[in-house]
Amino acid sequence: MKLQHVDIHNAITALTCALDLVGVDEVRHGKRVAVMARAIAQHLKWPELECLSILYSGMLHDCGVSRIHEHHRITETLEWDGAEDHCIRGADYLSACPPVAYLSTEIRYHHTRWEKLLETPIDHHIRLRANLLFLADRIDMLQTDFLNSGQILTEYPAIIARIKTLSGVLFAPELVDAFAEIADVEAFWLAMEPEYLDEDLRSIGSQIPTTLLDIPALKELARLFSRVVDAKSPYTDDHSQRVAHIARQLAIDFGIEGYELEQVEIAGLLHDIGKLRVSEDIIDKPGSLTPEERATMHRHSYDTFRILQRVFDDSKIPVWAGFHHETLLGDGYPFKNGNKELDLECRIITVADIFQALAQERPYRHTMSLEYILNDLQSRVASGHLDAKVVAKLTDNAELYYRLAVA
Ligand SMILES: [Fe+2]
Ligand SMILES: [Fe+2]
Ligand SMILES: [Fe+2]
Repeated sequence: MKLQHVDIHNAITALTCALDLVGVDEVRHGKRVAVMARAIAQHLKWPELECLSILYSGMLHDCGVSRIHEHHRITETLEWDGAEDHCIRGADYLSACPPVAYLSTEIRYHHTRWEKLLETPIDHHIRLRANLLFLADRIDMLQTDFLNSGQILTEYPAIIARIKTLSGVLFAPELVDAFAEIADVEAFWLAMEPEYLDEDLRSIGSQIPTTLLDIPALKELARLFSRVVDAKSPYTDDHSQRVAHIARQLAIDFGIEGYELEQVEIAGLLHDIGKLRVSEDIIDKPGSLTPEERATMHRHSYDTFRILQRVFDDSKIPVWAGFHHETLLGDGYPFKNGNKELDLECRIITVADIFQALAQERPYRHTMSLEYILNDLQSRVASGHLDAKVVAKLTDNAELYYRLAVA
């Protein structure tokens, strides 16, 4: 079974937009690293498939970073204590995701100095790939301020000079040489501008043969991204995965099957992907949110909707995931859709999300008992916000659903 237009290039590129959101104001780090690494690989005449896979590796290299504070560390300094933490986490996520598991070792070592990599017992070819990621990543760190201030064309010679001083220590000499050869022109740096970057990624996608992802592979990718989202806060551990399980079970109880059922599960896994942009200071805040913080929080389901549209443009997944804060009365967000526009699958995901969230501890409250949760859902049905049939189905089998939410 294949989703018609989901190919791996499109999926990774779009999901990278979500990863890059962790940068908040600095939202194209992964894409820039990817494009620079590929350009260096091409200059070194690596085989075309190697150049393509280093592009994907570049896009995914920081998937171990969910928290904005950690992302800031990455953009501040060349090396720092604890840099390996996100490499280990990222490699762990990737190795559990078959479609991209082959990238996990190079991502594990993407902040390891070349001199140390030479002593690390890994394949030399992977060593070079890991170090190419490190090089492109640190070039990006050095260029970020100048990209934002528009001074990159006067500053790039200093960046090249700085990187050369690190040859043989942080970076493999052959990689530094290749970088110095292709980066000594304005065009290399101007290609980093957002619209050119996106255009170039699209054009690479259009030149390669389409590799369609089947449903199991798509679910694995969705699970990978759900882990990144849930790692945002200690309070949301496994939240997306559990919402997906609950939503899937509810859908089965309603007789939904086959392709529809798989889409419900994927929508459940990815419903909070837009939260990558929300600071953990807001997500973990113990008290009530200020109007500004609430507004920031409220944009996440719109971001979810837009990101998923880029991956699943021929399916209902963006709608089912992106509408999870809408209500039957039309007073939710971000579209204020009401009763008529909300498919059964949307209602299922909304109920699953509220049910699991209430069963989980939050910074501002303890875990709620099953009895409390059922009363809460019932009062939302009585006020006209939640779907009565979905809540009734869940109540019929409340113990089972509670286990899916917490066990
Ligand atoms: Fe990194
Ligand atoms: Fe990075
Ligand atoms: Fe959620």
